[in-house]
Amino acid sequence: MTTVEVTKKASRADKPTEPLIFEKQVEGQTGVDFPPLDVPKTEIPSGTVGNGINLPSFGQHDVMGHYTHLSDRNFSVDGNFYPLGSCTMKHNPRINEWAAALPGFSCLHPLQDDDTIQGALRLLYETRTMLEEIAGLHEVSLQPAAGAHGEFTALKVIKAYYADHGQSRRTVVLAADTAHGTNPASCTMCGASVQTVRTEQGQTDLEHLKEVIAHVGADNIAAFMITNPSTAGLFDVNIKEIADIIHEAGAMLYVDGANMNAMVGLIRPGDFGADAMHYNTHKTFSTPHGGGGPGSGPIAVTETLAPYLPVPQVMMADDGSFYLDRSREKTIGKVRSFIGQFGVLVRCWTYISACGPDGLKNVAETAVLNANYLAARLQDLYAMPYFNPSEGKFCAHEFVTVPRDLLDKGVTLIDIAKRMIDYGVHPPTMHWPVHDCFMVEPTETESKQALDHFVDVMRAIAEEISMDIETVQNAPLESDIARADEVGAARKPVIAFVDSE
Ligand SMILES: Cc1ncc(COP(=O)(O)O)c(C=O)c1O
Repeated sequence: MTTVEVTKKASRADKPTEPLIFEKQVEGQTGVDFPPLDVPKTEIPSGTVGNGINLPSFGQHDVMGHYTHLSDRNFSVDGNFYPLGSCTMKHNPRINEWAAALPGFSCLHPLQDDDTIQGALRLLYETRTMLEEIAGLHEVSLQPAAGAHGEFTALKVIKAYYADHGQSRRTVVLAADTAHGTNPASCTMCGASVQTVRTEQGQTDLEHLKEVIAHVGADNIAAFMITNPSTAGLFDVNIKEIADIIHEAGAMLYVDGANMNAMVGLIRPGDFGADAMHYNTHKTFSTPHGGGGPGSGPIAVTETLAPYLPVPQVMMADDGSFYLDRSREKTIGKVRSFIGQFGVLVRCWTYISACGPDGLKNVAETAVLNANYLAARLQDLYAMPYFNPSEGKFCAHEFVTVPRDLLDKGVTLIDIAKRMIDYGVHPPTMHWPVHDCFMVEPTETESKQALDHFVDVMRAIAEEISMDIETVQNAPLESDIARADEVGAARKPVIAFVDSE
């Protein structure tokens, strides 16, 4: 039997349930000492005071203890392997945090005048130009607050362009059947309808693309949204041909750049025909994210689309000073308050600057190498529909496995996923882009040792399925909570709040 060291934890029964902070509070305790009053005491008018807010009373150490206990029960990218396909959960270098916490950045007020925030504006301008260079596109807007928001903003820009050129009838957007759910959602929010284009073996089916264009009518199509490398972990080798087909239809090629991890420094979307794209800086350029934020989704566009970008845009004047341009004649307007997700963009600047051009290239090469290494070491036990080195079929930065042979022995995908938790590994993305699959993205920041541990874990689980199937079926056995009713939790959340009154 494969030997693999399981991350041993106290068993679930040994761990007491953590009471709510309201249940633990001690009347009269306080965690903060206010400085002595150094102004005349004045009563606050009764109409302004209100009824107060119900905060728990607690000493500082006890508050720290409470939240530290809770965080101990969390799974984090800092503590464990987190191969969540499409989500790029990689190590966030601490230099990013240091830069973002510098008082000159963290203590700024968003309403300060441009001449008092020249350093911050310079950082934004340099981020803008670095992202333009990496995309191979004319101009970047740093405004969108996440990838999905970038999609929405870029589609608005494309829509404004067509409206300005008498082609408002272009209201259909094409998307691959492997597209991330945010792609069709963004289209709907922009008033566009979506037509799905089939993929074959993870590659866009060119014949189907042409059929859909003929069916919808080229004049009605605004754009084709394509994720490259796709969510099947494959670089679309026909991307230039796809760009030509789309341009011939008079439409735009939109690249969902969530997977730029596999391309930075190696290949530029602008060079293979993209008219617009978004970045997920929180993934590619490493910012702590998960659970919904924080993020930043800058978009990059061609010169043709640039006049429609949102405002404010950070600019450099002839004298080398920086300012915010709020008055572009054709802009779609504002899409976010103030000047974007500043803290995330500081981390993005820091990460790109720390890597430098060669380092960025190394990021992509290592991300791709790591994914191929894992796929090669697991393919004998975990079937991989798109990975076959002997036929020259490699993956990009992530791979998809559909472990049909293992499932046929009587376990479900969720059983395997839950067993991974016992071994201290975060389960990968599941059932997407195809049913019964894991989408594994190791990222470039994992050591060979960490990758080998993952291989051992996956092989051990495969062996357990043959020799001790009940263990897998009942997993997780060592996590803090047993198998949760995930559908129930999502559909009927019970949010308990203990009111002390
Ligand atoms: C391929 C792809 N597109 C778009 C998005 C949306 O990005 P965000 O979560 O920043 O809104 C994601 C996020 O996981 C993604 O993987």
